[in-house]
Amino acid sequence: MRKPIIAGNWKMNKTPEEAKELFSELIPLLKDAKCDVVICPPFTALCPAKKLIGGTNIHLGVQNIHWAKSGAFTGEISADMLKFFGVEYAIVGHSERRQYFGETDKTVNMRARAALDNGITPIICVGESLEQREGGETNAFISSQVRAALNGMSEAEVASIIIAYEPIWAIGTGKTATAEMAEETVAMIRQTVAERFGAEAAAAVRIQYGGSMNPKNAASLMAMPDIDGGLIGGASLKAEDFARVVRCDEQ
Ligand code: PGA
Repeated sequence: MRKPIIAGNWKMNKTPEEAKELFSELIPLLKDAKCDVVICPPFTALCPAKKLIGGTNIHLGVQNIHWAKSGAFTGEISADMLKFFGVEYAIVGHSERRQYFGETDKTVNMRARAALDNGITPIICVGESLEQREGGETNAFISSQVRAALNGMSEAEVASIIIAYEPIWAIGTGKTATAEMAEETVAMIRQTVAERFGAEAAAAVRIQYGGSMNPKNAASLMAMPDIDGGLIGGASLKAEDFARVVRCDEQ
């Protein structure tokens, strides 16, 4: 059985001081979580995060990772730097990275490769635009994103990663895909994995939904057979809301 995994993506929010406060609120609220819990704060909060969450059930993630070990890559960060802080997960290919920072299928694949080579689990994001959904292109587009991101991975590697299905039109907009719509696309992603990497990898890979997931809709999304968790933006910035998503409490 796949263990559910809920990850908070704080994006470009929280100073180190504010991060300390939020982690301190989250630790007691999340201590009995039945699923895996990951927090991806900004890089500048990794130092306080490392100190505060040591010995707790909260795992540390980041929002990006570079493919090279070191070098002339201004503004980027390497796996070696991240490992120092005990980082275990890295979001790769978030639609905001693809949209605003020129991330491509190729660089997503290279970043995911670097994460895996360094014992960091990539959370690979895929998702269609509203135009693509309305034009009936969702399945073709997402399966090509998945194939490109996973290119060159072994079956065992694919079984160990996280894929996040995040329809772009649902991110930060308050518009969530219905649970049925999300399930349909997530099941299609699992099928794409099965075709390329076999049934075992497809049965093992954990696939999250992301896009305006909140305490109200989390339970119905999580009840879907192929949805194994969530990547939470806005609702991860408030301790109580995030804890309720983790507990899947309905209001
Ligand atoms: P949101 O963001 O929950 O604020 O829609 C999700 C994400 O971008 O990962």
